[in-house]
Amino acid sequence: MNRFAIAAVVAVALGGSAAVAVAEDAAGLKAQGQQVYEELCATCHGRYGRGDGPLAANLKAPLLDFTNSAWLAGRSDEAIAKGLESASHGPMTVATVLKPEVLQSTIGFIRTLSVPGKHVSVPAGRDIYAASCQGCHGVNGDGKGPVATYLDPPKPRDFTSPEFKIEGREDELVNFISLGAAKAMHGSPYMPEWATRLNPQQIRDTVEYMKTLKKTTP
Ligand code: HEC
Ligand code: HEC
Repeated sequence: MNRFAIAAVVAVALGGSAAVAVAEDAAGLKAQGQQVYEELCATCHGRYGRGDGPLAANLKAPLLDFTNSAWLAGRSDEAIAKGLESASHGPMTVATVLKPEVLQSTIGFIRTLSVPGKHVSVPAGRDIYAASCQGCHGVNGDGKGPVATYLDPPKPRDFTSPEFKIEGREDELVNFISLGAAKAMHGSPYMPEWATRLNPQQIRDTVEYMKTLKKTTP
């Protein structure tokens, strides 16, 4: 190896470790923000940020919905932190006593509760998927959940297949999931009608979560 090649390898190695350190920092901040949010804020603001925490019913006014990305979109972290100091936000002394960098990471975590440009919750969808869908569709969405073996064909859809598209078909899928396969397309009686158990928002959350399932390469 000549001198330049060695220098290049060292540069890549150093650059790489710097990138790893930055990623670890980001993960640490997200974990910190999440811990503070779950232990201090979720009692009022709700697990998914929908303003429906266990204490919310005791408050005088309804809370904001952090899963509505429109609220956060136009606000900087500084503006949000400033808002927490204002008198209109009396109960929020919890936020004002946090170290500034911890408040910042907590606000950062609140930003992860919505999807830019949308009003959905991926964590809510993940939990609904785990409770109601993965038994048939599989943890990874490959259609091979433990129940799938016992079903007559057609088998549960494989969401990881390259042919299965969600983008641009969201409304169609929400409709299909709401009605179940039998009513939606004379399909399998095993794909249940979910509108009787999930509200439209929960079905949209689930579809948004399904977009995060990894595709298998064709
Ligand atoms: C005791 C209940 C309670 C707790 C706990 C709580 N909040 Fe709040 N929060 C409120 C109320 C009440 C409001 C005002 C109503 C509104 O604007 O939604 C509010 C508003 C907010 C707002 C909007 C402020 C604005 O500019 O309008 C943010 C951001 C926020 N809270 C973040 C947090 C964070 C971060 C935590 C945890 C460190 C937290 N809250 C803990 C009750 C609470
Ligand atoms: C008891 C088994 C079972 C459960 C539970 C189940 N599914 Fe299905 N699902 C199926 C089967 C079987 C099919 C294939 C239907 C067909 O082709 O007729 C299917 C198909 C689908 C499709 C394919 C639609 C398309 O256009 O290709 C979607 C989307 C879907 N299910 C979503 C869900 C969601 C979301 C949940 C949880 C809320 C869920 N399923 C729970 C069995 C199940």
